[in-house]
Amino acid sequence: MRTLVAYISETGNTKKVAQAIYDEIPGEKDLMPICDVPDSSVYDLMFMGFPVHQFGPDKKATMRMKQHCVPGRKVALFVTHAAPESEPELPEWLAKFNEAASGAELVGFFDCQGQMSMPVKLVLRLSRDKKMRDWAKIDGSQGHPDASSIAKAKKFAKEVLEKAGQKG
Ligand SMILES: Cc1cc2nc3c(=O)[nH]c(=O)nc-3n(C[C@H](O)[C@H](O)[C@H](O)COP(=O)(O)O)c2cc1C
Repeated sequence: MRTLVAYISETGNTKKVAQAIYDEIPGEKDLMPICDVPDSSVYDLMFMGFPVHQFGPDKKATMRMKQHCVPGRKVALFVTHAAPESEPELPEWLAKFNEAASGAELVGFFDCQGQMSMPVKLVLRLSRDKKMRDWAKIDGSQGHPDASSIAKAKKFAKEVLEKAGQKG
């Protein structure tokens, strides 16, 4: 069994989760930015991680999911977002990742909060949309993914490995 953990991460949040997942994997494994993956067909299981951009996956993330999520491939997704996990619109945003990856056999999905970067906060502060300005004010994402999220990510990795037929 050979496992790949691949991700897109601009400010390091998704990469932290990727590392936590990677640490739980026994046997042959690789960890790398998804743009560096030379050939995903050599892996039996692929964990793929992305940040939420504009309420879903951005074009790069969608393109990578379409590229790697092919029939017969076992894929587990993990996603980070600045919104709290209680955000009512979150299920709608996350469903877009599931949809983009639907070409593969999806064996798991994990999401957690990730710290909002200063440039993003600035954009929200200057937004014409009051909801966005209010979001910048109440943002509580600092320090995320926190220890609790990392522990949950590790548990998620173990569950996926069991489901995919490998002891974690
Ligand atoms: C261009 C852009 C758009 C974003 N849009 C959203 C969004 O719609 N909802 C959200 O919860 N977070 C949004 N975020 C915040 C990121 O999803 C969050 O900070 C994430 O953890 C960043 O992960 P990274 O450090 O791996 O890049 C956005 C960030 C950027 C840069």
